[in-house]
Amino acid sequence: MNEVLIHWPSGHTTRCRPGMDWLQAAREAGFSIPTGCLGGSCGACELDVNGATVRACIATVPASKSGELTVELATDPYW
Ligand code: FES
Repeated sequence: MNEVLIHWPSGHTTRCRPGMDWLQAAREAGFSIPTGCLGGSCGACELDVNGATVRACIATVPASKSGELTVELATDPYW
């Protein structure tokens, strides 16, 4: 599968293979995703990926038609 170009909130850009854990991809980018439960239930690790919310601890980097993904920390009004 083709690598995707990931744009991180820190301004860094990395290439990564689809299927990699988000937390690992972030570590390689020198970006730290806040985490809590690491089990998919607390929402601390939520990211917006091309506008869709994912929980980084239980999701992997998806393939992208455009070959690019833009990541932002999800803004949760309840935190
Ligand atoms: S760390 Fe709790 S949902 Fe990911």
